[in-house]
Amino acid sequence: MSMTRISLSLAAAGLMSATLAQAGEVEVLHWWTSGGEAKAAAELKASMQKKGHSWKDFAVAGGGGDSAMTVLKSRVVSGNAPAAAQIKGPSIQEWAREGVLANMDDVAKAEKWDELLPKAIADGLKYKGNYVAAPVNVHRVNWLWANPEAFKKAGAKLPTTWDEFFVAAEALKKAGIIPVAHGGQNWQDFTTFESVALGVGGADFYKKALVQLDAGSLKSPTMEKVLGTFKKVKTYTDKNAPGRDWNLATAMVIKGEAGMQLMGDWAKGEFIAAGKVPGKDFACVAAPGTAKSYTYNVDSFALFKLKDPANQKAQQDLAAAIMSTDFQEVFNLNKGSIPVRLGMKLDKFDDCAKTSAADFVSTAKAGSLVPSIAHGMAVPSAAEGAIKDVVSQFWNDDKMTSASAMDKLVAAAKTK
Ligand code: BGC
Repeated sequence: MSMTRISLSLAAAGLMSATLAQAGEVEVLHWWTSGGEAKAAAELKASMQKKGHSWKDFAVAGGGGDSAMTVLKSRVVSGNAPAAAQIKGPSIQEWAREGVLANMDDVAKAEKWDELLPKAIADGLKYKGNYVAAPVNVHRVNWLWANPEAFKKAGAKLPTTWDEFFVAAEALKKAGIIPVAHGGQNWQDFTTFESVALGVGGADFYKKALVQLDAGSLKSPTMEKVLGTFKKVKTYTDKNAPGRDWNLATAMVIKGEAGMQLMGDWAKGEFIAAGKVPGKDFACVAAPGTAKSYTYNVDSFALFKLKDPANQKAQQDLAAAIMSTDFQEVFNLNKGSIPVRLGMKLDKFDDCAKTSAADFVSTAKAGSLVPSIAHGMAVPSAAEGAIKDVVSQFWNDDKMTSASAMDKLVAAAKTK
């Protein structure tokens, strides 16, 4: 072999070992297991594999993520944290205070995150001024999904107020269609509850009661009206609702077995994954009374401290990939949400997403953009969990009065 060939093959070997040395593994905890969610998660996996890293899937099924959070706690306590975990809102600060999250500032500075994110969202991803989490999207929670065929059959009109909602529900029922597709799980009850609170009480009431946890609002004539409306929604759900997963409830609307579902726009991911076309096969409208408000839910990945340098590199690549334009587009097209990165073109997105993006901006200006309490964006996790339990107790126990529910809400809000 000539000298040139030897040195060339040595150089090639050197290059190879350099890539091998950089290739790491990212273990990612998430709860994206429904049809639309899994398609979106697969895009994240693909973007990491493109960079030569291997992906270790740590999916814990269960909408809303309660089971995932329980599993995460035991993993971190036993000193075996994943590289990244789907953690949102005030919980990011709770984890950071434990000293287990990694500083992502090198990536954030290089990629200019401060310029690419709305300040309020960026602040929530930082601990003591350093980024510890990377955001993937903005979900709007206050949506109503409807099957136009079912509405036509019932001679019903898409509701814009709660009064109209119950008129439509009654018509659907008469036509032999289940009016409201619901899954009786705590987080789904809570998702319905917050949309009712926003629609009946308005954004200022929502902020006082469910963000500031003001006792005078949690126990008030407005809250009594919210609870009454919430309980009335239940009368239009079917007897098989208890325990049903949210995506199975969405499937009922897709098939026309049910007329409507109150759910965040991850539900759109299910319609899309089933090949349905927005505006034709299904309708998205703001939950009754909430067209001028917006409950936001930002999915983000908190990054945990790792020891292995190759895995640290893979983790940084994951953080960078999450905020890239390509990923923000393809992920959100599948997930039903909109990009969190500012200044993105929305040409490929449908009208539900375009409405969401426009309303995100206009409600922020008007002061009616509010964090979703049901999806971990508004209050510390202990208070959230206690309030969620009261809401479900009230939903499930037909003997519980609004007065007693309100007393329990006030007490739950104090949970630390
Ligand atoms: C998450 C979504 C997810 C939904 C249902 C929400 O809390 O933000 O990403 O699709 O739960 O599992």
